[in-house]
Amino acid sequence: MTISKENVLKALSTVEDPDLKKDLVTLGMIQDIIIEGDKLSFKVVLTTPACPLKELIKNNCIDALEKEFGTEVELDIHMTSNVTTVRNNAPLLPQVKNIIAIASGKGGVGKSTCASNLAVALAATGAKVGLIDADISGPSIPVMFNVEGEQPAVKNENGKNTIIPIEQYGVKLMSIGFLTPADSAVVWRGPMASSALKQFISDVEWGELDYLLIDLPPGTSDIHLTMVQTVPVTGAVIITTPQKVALADATKGLSMFKQPQINVPVLGVVENMAYFTPDELPDNKYYLFGKEGGQRLAKKFDVPFLGEIPIVQSIRESGDTGYPAVLKEGTTKQAFSQLAETLARQIAIRNADQNKTEVVQVNT
Ligand SMILES: Nc1ncnc2c1ncn2[C@@H]1O[C@H](COP(=O)(O)OP(=O)(O)OP(=O)(O)O)[C@@H](O)[C@H]1O
Ligand SMILES: [Mg+2]
Repeated sequence: MTISKENVLKALSTVEDPDLKKDLVTLGMIQDIIIEGDKLSFKVVLTTPACPLKELIKNNCIDALEKEFGTEVELDIHMTSNVTTVRNNAPLLPQVKNIIAIASGKGGVGKSTCASNLAVALAATGAKVGLIDADISGPSIPVMFNVEGEQPAVKNENGKNTIIPIEQYGVKLMSIGFLTPADSAVVWRGPMASSALKQFISDVEWGELDYLLIDLPPGTSDIHLTMVQTVPVTGAVIITTPQKVALADATKGLSMFKQPQINVPVLGVVENMAYFTPDELPDNKYYLFGKEGGQRLAKKFDVPFLGEIPIVQSIRESGDTGYPAVLKEGTTKQAFSQLAETLARQIAIRNADQNKTEVVQVNT
C-alpha cells in the first residue's frame, strides 16, 4: 500500500482514545502529517500532558500503521498535548481552561495537602497550573509551599491594579496569607472573605493556565457560593477520609455541587488517609479510619473514584516544611502523580461529554 495522507488517516481512524471512546482522527488528534518516501511523521495531540495512556496510544498507532503499510515504514510519532476546555469567551479568566474546586465536608481531611500535591504533580507533567487558597480565615498554602511572608508584586495598568501571583514549584499561587501578616488575627466576616476570593479571581494576573485549582475551606460556606457565582467551575473533587463522620460530611459537600441550581460536575472522590503502613512492616496495611469508605461514597453517587492516599508521616512533614511530598522520590510521589493523571483524565472525559458549566445566577 502506498503511503498517502488519506491512507494514513484511514489507518489511524482504527485507533481509539480509550477514555473518549472515539477514534483519533474523529477527535482531531492527528496533526501535521508529513510523508517523504518511506518516512512518515505526525503529531498526536492528546487532551492533557498528564495522559497516562500516552504509550498505549502511541503503540496502537504504530500497530495500525504497520498493519496498513508493513514494517518498512519509518515512523516518527510526536506525542504532544493541548488541554481541552469547555470554557469559551468567559468574561473572567478567559485564558484559564479548567477551574477545579477541591472540597470536602469535614475539616482537616487533607484538602490543602491534596490540592498542593495535585497542583505540583500536574505542573511537573508540563501543564500550566495555578492554585487559589480560598480558605480566607485559615490559609494553608503559603506554609505548604514555603512562601510565607512573600508579598506579591502589584502592577498598575491603565489605572487598574493587578496582583502578580507568587510562583513556586512551577505553580502560580494566590492566598490571603500573602496580603496579611502571618500571625495577625484578622477576623474575616463572610462578605469580606467573599470579596477577597472575587479579587483573587478578577484582579490577579493568572495568564494562560490549563488547570486552576481552588482549595476551599471545609463545609458548604459562602465561599463556595461566591466561587460558583463568579466563575464557571469545570468540576469538583471531593476529599474524604474513610471515617464515618468524614463521609457523612463529604456526602453533604458532594450533594451541594449536584444541586440542580449549582450543577457543577463532580469529577470524583479521593480517599485520603486511607491506610497506614509502618516502615518496618511494608506489607501491612492498617485501616485506622475504616476501609474503602471513599470508594463506597463514589459508588453511591455514581461518580468516579480517583484514588487513595495512605497516611504517611512524610506527607505531614512535607506540608509543614513547605516541600510537597510529590517532589520526593518514593511511593508517596507515585500515589500523588497517579492521582493527578486520573484527575486530568476525568477532566478530559468531562470536557468531551458534558456541556459547559454556567456561572450560577442568583435569583433575587
Ligand atoms: N495522607 C496524609 N498523611 C499524613 N498526614 C496528612 C495526610 N493528609 C493530610 N495530612 C496532614 O493532616 C493535616 C490536615 O491536612 P490539610 O490541612 O491538608 O487538611 P484540610 O482538609 O485542608 O484542612 P482544613 O479543613 O483545615 O482546610 C495536616 O497537618 C496535613 O499535613
Ligand atoms: Mg485546608
